[in-house]
Amino acid sequence: MRAKFEVVRGDITRSRVDAIVNAANPNLLGGGGVSGAIYRVAGPQLTAACRQVGPCQRGDARITAGFGLPAHYVIHTPGPVWQGGGDGEPRILAACYRKSLELAAATRCRTVDFCSISTGIYGYPMDRAASVAVRTIDEFLATNPGTIRRVRMVAYDRVTEQAYEQALSASVL
Ligand code: APR
Repeated sequence: MRAKFEVVRGDITRSRVDAIVNAANPNLLGGGGVSGAIYRVAGPQLTAACRQVGPCQRGDARITAGFGLPAHYVIHTPGPVWQGGGDGEPRILAACYRKSLELAAATRCRTVDFCSISTGIYGYPMDRAASVAVRTIDEFLATNPGTIRRVRMVAYDRVTEQAYEQALSASVL
């Protein structure tokens, strides 16, 4: 059966799912933004685990346990820094979503929550990022039926929620 994709409003550090996806940096060291919040709730064991699996190229992904988080695993994916769009940013952003879902499926995760990769500190325009994300998630779920049952985009604010809802209604889902 094909997995569901939903947009919800919330805080990803509270997601009780198999895996949450962290908008990481290539060193896999916590920064500000969502990764800072994830590292705070997960505790220092996450930093140690990230040292073991990092570094990680932009567009690639790594997995660790969730430690103090309600989520069982954290998938860390460094997104592209927005440079105007001519530097491969859409391709790299799509790879973030695809690689994260591949890793989740390989780890037999059934429920996966994303935050909006690259649209904060990395400056990717929200509408464009939402359309890349929705298209890539849709393609993956259509071509990889199996373990994953539900994917959610956890939007932290109203602007993010609206952008992903719009991208979702414009897609063929
Ligand atoms: N839950 C869900 N989404 C959140 C949360 C949260 N608790 N906190 C922030 N966000 C949202 C932001 O509103 C933004 O839309 O996550 C999105 C991604 O923003 P950033 O965290 O700034 O991520 P990104 O743009 O990919 O930049 C990554 O920031 O924290 C550093 O180490 C990280 O250097 C890396 C860079």
